[in-house]
Amino acid sequence: MTPGDPVGRLPHAPWKPPSHAPEDPDRIPAMNGSHLFRAGRYAAEAAEALAFLAQPGEATLEIGFDHGMCLADRARRWPDTLHLGLEIREARVNALRPHLTPNALAWRADARTVLGSVLPAGRLTTIYVFFPDPIWTETNRDRRLLFSPAFVSLCARALKPDGALYLATDVEPYFRWVETLVASWSPTVAPNLGTELSRRERVCKRDGIAVCRGTWQPPAP
Ligand SMILES: C[S@@+](CC[C@H](N)C(=O)[O-])C[C@H]1O[C@@H](n2cnc3c(N)ncnc32)[C@H](O)[C@@H]1O
Repeated sequence: MTPGDPVGRLPHAPWKPPSHAPEDPDRIPAMNGSHLFRAGRYAAEAAEALAFLAQPGEATLEIGFDHGMCLADRARRWPDTLHLGLEIREARVNALRPHLTPNALAWRADARTVLGSVLPAGRLTTIYVFFPDPIWTETNRDRRLLFSPAFVSLCARALKPDGALYLATDVEPYFRWVETLVASWSPTVAPNLGTELSRRERVCKRDGIAVCRGTWQPPAP
């Protein structure tokens, strides 16, 4: 078994980078800011997240927390830090919320839209991405893939100058491609991870699947 094989998934062709060029972020509609969070329920949700982040203390973001074991674990271990989590699956968010400590907030939202139109610049110390969906099927793949040149720029904007983006994935070609997106960033030490493993990380550990990991600091603005 080689890294990058779609282990535990239906067989697919090897992972290939998406076709959108670095100068073409317009292909991802969620990226260029959104009016979604300016009205009604969504505005209230954005206000809740902003009020949460306005509290004193360092703040981190986990994107795609799924069951939220890692998010909840870090929140318990580092009570003086604020832990925001974004997940697009509503059932996961609703299931997790009652179990979180007050220094954690789980929000059902697309991380790309939130980074593009809600989060203040320079607030986060860490952005965690554990095993982002590699999106093996071609349909709308370019639009659904989390990482893109524009996403990386938005992460850089949201992070403090000494903040860091952490990525773990068992899809090695995806990881190599992300490395090209963060070529101007500086590799740095891994952030606080806690002891809980995410669901995919457990599968990798159980089945002996290699995991690629990287932590990068954004370039100076
Ligand atoms: C492959 S799963 C990995 C889940 C978990 N982090 C793990 O390591 O097992 C990717 C997760 O990211 C979520 N997700 C995908 N795109 C997202 C986005 N744009 N914003 C927030 N969450 C997203 C999915 O719903 C899913 O729960």
